[in-house]
Amino acid sequence: MPRYPRVVIGRLATPTGLERRAIGIDTTTGRIAAVAARLDGDEVVDHGERVILPGAVDIHVHFRDPGHPAKEDFASGTRAALHGGVTTVMDMPNTDPATTTRARYEEKRALVAPKAHCDFALWGGATAPGADARAVAAVAPGLKLYLGESTGKVTFEEPDQLERLIADLQEVRFPGVLAVHAEQQADLEAARDKHATAPGLRGHGARRPPAAELAALQGLADAIRGVAARPEALSFRVHVAHASTFALLESARALGLSVGVTPHHLFLHDALPLGAYGRVNPPLRDEKEAARLYAALRAGLVPIVESDHAPHTRAEKGRDVLDAPSGMPGVETLLPLLAARAARGELSWHTVAATTATAPARLFALPKGEIAPGRDADLVVVDPADAAPLSEERLLTRCGWTAFAGHPAILPRTVYLRGEPVVEDGMVVARPGTGQEAPPVPRA
Ligand code: NCD
Ligand code: ZN
Repeated sequence: MPRYPRVVIGRLATPTGLERRAIGIDTTTGRIAAVAARLDGDEVVDHGERVILPGAVDIHVHFRDPGHPAKEDFASGTRAALHGGVTTVMDMPNTDPATTTRARYEEKRALVAPKAHCDFALWGGATAPGADARAVAAVAPGLKLYLGESTGKVTFEEPDQLERLIADLQEVRFPGVLAVHAEQQADLEAARDKHATAPGLRGHGARRPPAAELAALQGLADAIRGVAARPEALSFRVHVAHASTFALLESARALGLSVGVTPHHLFLHDALPLGAYGRVNPPLRDEKEAARLYAALRAGLVPIVESDHAPHTRAEKGRDVLDAPSGMPGVETLLPLLAARAARGELSWHTVAATTATAPARLFALPKGEIAPGRDADLVVVDPADAAPLSEERLLTRCGWTAFAGHPAILPRTVYLRGEPVVEDGMVVARPGTGQEAPPVPRA
C-alpha cells in the first residue's frame, strides 16, 4: 500500500450520510492523492467522529480594499473567512475605486494579493458594454453586473444595453461567469417614490420589492435570448446572485441559470428587531418567504449558498433604517450556521458541502470543492458537539458585529488549505500571503 506524507481521518459527507474515511494528501502539490477506508501516512491526524467538509468557496464577498479598510481589508476579511471554514473567496468589484477597468483591476490585485490568508479571485465590474468590459473580461474569472443601485459606483448605466454587453462577452469568448445583481433600477425608483418614508425593514423591503428582482431576471433572460438560443450556448455561465424569494430562485433555475441564496435570506426576516443591521440589498423578506427558501435548501433546490459579506461600521448601522447603508457581514458565519443545522439533523451534510463548496467551485472550474483525488486539499473539520449560540466576541471580521448573534453555529476546529493547517484549535495560524489567486477559468 502506498504511503502518503499526510493522512487526515474523519467522517465525510456522502449522499447517503457520514462515513469515516482517510484522506491521503500529497504535501508537495497540496492536492488530495487518495480517499479510502484506510491509508498509511508519515503523519496521521485522526479527527475521530468529527466531520470533514470540503473548504467552502464563497463566491460573493465585499471586502473594502481598496477604499474602506477600516470596515474590512483583504487581510482581516480573509482571516475571518478561514475562521469560518471558507478557504476561497471571490471578492466583488464595488471597492473604491471600483474594478471596472483593466488598470484598476490589476492595481487591486497587486494591492490585495500579499494580504490574502485564504485563496481568492477577484470579480471585475461592468457599468456598460464596450472596451472596458471586454478588457476586464480578458483577465477576470467573473464579471459582476448591478442592474440596480446598491453600495458603490458600479450600477450598469443603461439597462437596454444589456444585450450588447452579453454580445460583447460572447464575441471575446469570455470563459468565466457573469453574475447579476437582479434588481431593476426603474422598478426600484418607482417603489422608492411610492414608499419614500415607510419605516423599518419592511419599509426598506417595500422600496425594493420582489417584483424588481423578477423584472431584472426577465430583462436578463430577454438579453440572453437576443444573443443565444439557450444560456448553455454562451461561452460563459450566468449566475443570479442572492435570490431573496422562492419565486426568483425557481425562475432562475427554470431558465437554466446558476443562482445563489444567502444565509440572511434563509435565517433572518423583516419582522426581527434588527434595525438597520438588517438592512441589506435585496432586502430581507417576511418569515414565510425565508421558510420557503430554507425548505428549498433542504430539498436540494438551492444550487449555491453565498454570503454577500458586506461589512459596514456600527456607527453607520446604528442609524435609522432609512439612513443607513445596506449590507451585513457573513463570510465567517456562512458555514457555521449551516453546519449547526446539519448537526441537528435538519439539513444533510451533503447539501452543506454541495452548496458551499462543490457547486461554487464547479461554476468557476476550480480544482476545489470536493474531497476527491486531484482536488486541492482544502478541508474543514467541525465537531457537531460544538454547536453553540453565536456571539460577536468570537468573530474576526473587522466590522465587529453580526446579525446572527444567538443563532446556533459551529466554528471549525481545524482548517487545511492545500494540505497545510491554517486554523488550529479554532485559531487562524495562516499568514498574509498564504492565500493564492485561483487559476483562471480554462477556455473551452
Ligand atoms: C453590498 C455592499 O455593501 O457592498 N450591499 C448589500 O446590501 N448587499 C452591495 C451589494 O452587493 O448590493
Ligand atoms: Zn453583493
